Amino acid sequence: MGAKKGQLKDIQKMLGGIEKADKPAAGAKLNAVKSAINSAFEGAQQNLAGGDDSGSDPTFDPTLPGTRPSLGHIHPITQTISHLTEIMGRMGFEVAEGPEVEDPWHNFVALNIPEDHPARDPLDNFYLATAKDPSGKSSVSAGDEGSQLLRSQTSTVQIRVMKEVQPPIRIISLGRVYRPDAPDATHFPMFHQMEGLLVDTNVTMANLKTVLRVFANNYLGEDVEIRFRPSFFPFTEPSVEVDFLWNGTWIEFGGAGMIDPNVFAAVGYDPEKVSGFAFGLGVERLCMRRHGITDIRDLYSGDLRFLKQF
Ligand code: PHE
Repeated sequence: MGAKKGQLKDIQKMLGGIEKADKPAAGAKLNAVKSAINSAFEGAQQNLAGGDDSGSDPTFDPTLPGTRPSLGHIHPITQTISHLTEIMGRMGFEVAEGPEVEDPWHNFVALNIPEDHPARDPLDNFYLATAKDPSGKSSVSAGDEGSQLLRSQTSTVQIRVMKEVQPPIRIISLGRVYRPDAPDATHFPMFHQMEGLLVDTNVTMANLKTVLRVFANNYLGEDVEIRFRPSFFPFTEPSVEVDFLWNGTWIEFGGAGMIDPNVFAAVGYDPEKVSGFAFGLGVERLCMRRHGITDIRDLYSGDLRFLKQF
């Protein structure tokens, strides 16, 4: 203990200033304190060196590995979103975002879904409770243009982007959508979609197919095949359902098609001048396929034994 500065040194200096008669007693006290500190210090040094540990916890074994603090990690769906974003980014698709609480214009009207379409049924959507008038009745009914809902599809973001910018457009949007489905192994009232939108001139179904094939090859592997089945969506024409052949089975991952001229008209584009495609794929389904997850509810159970595997 050769330090030149410190509280003990300061006290030692103070010895000079006290009564001569008191000096021997004060000096002795100081020495006692010094040697107590020294021996405590040496004892601690020995313990650390693995030597004599008498006086410390006899059950302490410094050679055992420590307990790791539990840090937590990123949820598998968030990991999947980053992965999909990265793959699509390499094909030039930028990320766009939109709100989860939407109005019927973005969720339905601009997407060419008319008032009487079954997709707008209050029982198939999460409409938000609206302010009640003083009589206690809800002032807005579910079908009203003013009432808001939790978006049922990320296609709303197509509209938001096209209202905002002019073509060429190449975006994806990954986010939550909500539908009042009873939860089972493949359904959950909240899930995620990856929406894609490409608008330019002379865009064809071949472009759509190529983008989706390259995507599937990157996410699921080189041996994936893609299949389009004719289908119907109000906002695309023609419309298809998208299947990937993976490990010997065809699995449906979502919908796609060429943007309907009515949608272009709704956002103020000239349908004679521009063309484009859109697709919407289920993020949980992609994640589950890749990781061999068989029950979507596991993703949202909060069960750490499940989540820790990813
Ligand atoms: N929005 C459709 C759905 O949720 C999917 C889709 C997106 C279809 C884009 C065509 C084009 O089912």
